[in-house]
Amino acid sequence: MKLTWFGHSCVWLSGTKNIIVDPFIGEGKEITADCDIIAVTHGHADHMGDTVRLRKRTVAINEIAKYLAIKGIPVEGMNIGGTIEVDGVRFTMTPAVHSSWIEEGGIGCNGGAAAGYVITMDGKKVYHAGDTALFSDMKLIGDLYRPDVALLPIGGRFTMGPDEAMMAAQYIGAPLVIPIHYNTWPKIVQDPSKFKFAIERTTDMKVAVLAPGETIDL
Ligand code: NI
Ligand code: MN
Repeated sequence: MKLTWFGHSCVWLSGTKNIIVDPFIGEGKEITADCDIIAVTHGHADHMGDTVRLRKRTVAINEIAKYLAIKGIPVEGMNIGGTIEVDGVRFTMTPAVHSSWIEEGGIGCNGGAAAGYVITMDGKKVYHAGDTALFSDMKLIGDLYRPDVALLPIGGRFTMGPDEAMMAAQYIGAPLVIPIHYNTWPKIVQDPSKFKFAIERTTDMKVAVLAPGETIDL
């Protein structure tokens, strides 16, 4: 499986199937990568992004799934703690400590709970934490699912910052950590090299700091 970070929280997993998590890459930028399945972590615009425009089969929490179904999007609704299989790919929805709001034309509706995913494809497990604060049950996610990769927000302000994400990485224990949700806007500017240095100096985990558009082989 190949993993491409498009920037912000948008990740493209390419293997037996092509999956995009949180299809948003910045205001005015459109996603052109091909995908079979979209997974949305929560309702905020910087995560829902191009979901409606792309019109692909979409995995989301029930409240967002209802909203997307009204738009004519084929949806797979689920909820936290559950696992579904879509075209041979497993999606386990994990908790996230965050809010969720679907906005359209200046008004909005509640998007249910915010979530993350453990996605299993081609024998690899990828944990995408979504937007979240640090929470100690990340230890449970690590113990239960043993992800090969953990994608963790480090931007601060709206999510964990680098210090909290360091402890999150230790709770989860994935051998590879990829920081996300930073440097998209001035309010979430961080230096990922410090995060990398701190984790690699104190643990056996590796941190891959990717440039937007960069791909790695898992
Ligand atoms: Ni958010
Ligand atoms: Mn966000």
